[in-house]
Amino acid sequence: MKIIGTIFTAMMLLMLASCDYGPKSSRGFTLPDGNVEYGRQYFVEFRCIDCHTVAGNEDDMNAPEGIDPIMNVHLGGKTTQIKTYGELVTSIINPSHKVSEQYRMTPAPDAQQSMMRNYNSIMTVDELIDIVAFVQSQYELEPYTPTVYMPY
Ligand code: HEC
Repeated sequence: MKIIGTIFTAMMLLMLASCDYGPKSSRGFTLPDGNVEYGRQYFVEFRCIDCHTVAGNEDDMNAPEGIDPIMNVHLGGKTTQIKTYGELVTSIINPSHKVSEQYRMTPAPDAQQSMMRNYNSIMTVDELIDIVAFVQSQYELEPYTPTVYMPY
């Protein structure tokens, strides 16, 4: 029985490893350095501020008509893990890739679709790179505090 368990574990590990390097993996993905200041401007121009507040920029980056309270998705701030380029680019060009239940379009042609706007045919790659640089720079790495377990 033990050997079956070992083979099973080995197979699972192999499957996980092969997923990482599949044709759709992010292996080999890097972006040129973006310009944070331009990114900040694009963030306002593209009206990302209609749905997003960015930590520390609440005073100068507000949507003129105010933000939709249901939609407000906070970006930036303290985090234990800075979002990678890959995660941020995916969130912008493929927001429906990982949609939280609360932001699903209902009713939508496709229930998986995010309520986030699609910018793919209007945003240039340069703009995307700068926006990603801006958003990434707004996160602040917080040292990870391990859970303290009380001794019995
Ligand atoms: C119409 C509202 C709306 C607009 C406009 C919008 N977003 Fe979003 N955005 C969302 C929602 C809702 C989510 C939450 C993810 C989801 O479930 O779709 C999201 C998620 C994100 C995330 C991932 C956040 C996380 O913590 O994982 C990033 C990054 C992001 N948006 C960037 C942008 C940028 C950059 C723009 C402008 C170019 C933009 N968004 C415009 C609604 C919007």
